[in-house]
Amino acid sequence: MPHDPSFTPTQLAARAAYLLRGNDLGTMTTAAPLLYPHMWSWDAAFVAIGLAPLSVERAVVELDTLLSAQWGNGMIPHIVFANGVDGYFPGPARWACSALSADAPRNRHTSGITQPPVHAIAVQRILDHARTRGRSTRAVAEAFLDRRWNDLVRWHRWLAECRDPDARGRVTMYHGWESGMDNSPRWDGAYANVIPGDVPEYQREDNKINTDATQRPSDLEYDRYLWLVEEMKAARYDDELLSKTVSFAVEDVFVSAILSVACQVLAEIGEDHKRPRSDVRDLYAWADRFRAGVIETTDERTGAAKDYDLRAEKWIVTETVAQFAPLLCGGLPHERERALLRLLEGPRFCGHPDLAYALIPSTSPVSRDFRPREYWRGPVWPVMTWLFSWCFARRGWAERSATLRREGLRQASDGTFAEYYEPFTGEPLGSMQQSWTAAAVLDWLG
Ligand code: SER
Repeated sequence: MPHDPSFTPTQLAARAAYLLRGNDLGTMTTAAPLLYPHMWSWDAAFVAIGLAPLSVERAVVELDTLLSAQWGNGMIPHIVFANGVDGYFPGPARWACSALSADAPRNRHTSGITQPPVHAIAVQRILDHARTRGRSTRAVAEAFLDRRWNDLVRWHRWLAECRDPDARGRVTMYHGWESGMDNSPRWDGAYANVIPGDVPEYQREDNKINTDATQRPSDLEYDRYLWLVEEMKAARYDDELLSKTVSFAVEDVFVSAILSVACQVLAEIGEDHKRPRSDVRDLYAWADRFRAGVIETTDERTGAAKDYDLRAEKWIVTETVAQFAPLLCGGLPHERERALLRLLEGPRFCGHPDLAYALIPSTSPVSRDFRPREYWRGPVWPVMTWLFSWCFARRGWAERSATLRREGLRQASDGTFAEYYEPFTGEPLGSMQQSWTAAAVLDWLG
């Protein structure tokens, strides 16, 4: 049975705000206090979305910190390490970015890979909130846009040019961590072809903090994660070399849909704020390119999208949340879109009769790959609920958006702000006090 709701919306919002305050190191908010004691790229964007209703000024600081660690080539790294904080592996020494790549920032330690580009959505939420505030707050948001516009465009340009050099309309990822969905069944086939060589000795930290092995990736998976890092180091994180040498390379359809949305959002901001026309034109062109790239992967009957394994030269068909990528960015023919919505709302996903809440499990409960407690192999992730809810509102599906928000809030009313939840029992799993879960709640209640 789901946990009984214990907090009213007012109490929940207060607790979420308190949580973000507690995870705030000053100019960065840790993704979670113990398991993730640094800044993660897409977490930071969602955190900024949660901070915006509390303080536009503080939300801007969060994105400034992240962007101050942007690489010379335009990449936003997936982790910006907090100075002097241990307790996470792999840390700065293992990545060795500044020793290996001239593109890595000198003043900050970062990882050498990237994460999904949701940041333009955060910029839009910040501008939305600023509009409702006084003149000085509006000026802070405007100044941020002036200061960071080029960096934001550079980020999207890097994804379009370096991660989709042949303009196929899909973003290539060289590590499951880059997708944000580390151990999703989507990547099982590609990881099966990653044969770890001589992985320098290491000690996991995550499983000392979350000691329930059923909730985290396995040691075998970690060996592969760490081997890919070694391959990338051997390539000195060079974009061109990675495409030739890393043994894991997939076109990620979900990230591609996010990129399409993000380019569209940023282009609209650019138009509203009189940014250079050539930037706006490029952004719209990328939005179109990646939308088309997503649609090209879809099943003619169901509309479900798929990833592509570049090394095995094979489409990847799994029943996961990523199938619904076209619902984020649009572009499906009407009938196919209706079919995909039926799949989403039917018994294979949100309409499964045993679910505690009508939310999207990361992997379908009817799939052979489904594991109800294991990270991206089944649990419901509140941040995904937020993303779909926001995109659905944008697409004019007010009712669907409101349903996800309502169910998401019911799930979150246990007040744990868990990283993910067991779909049938509603048990909170992974890290508690996860910043982006609090952020989703704050946006919903804001
Ligand atoms: N999600 C990864 C972890 O669990 C890192 O991005 O550590």
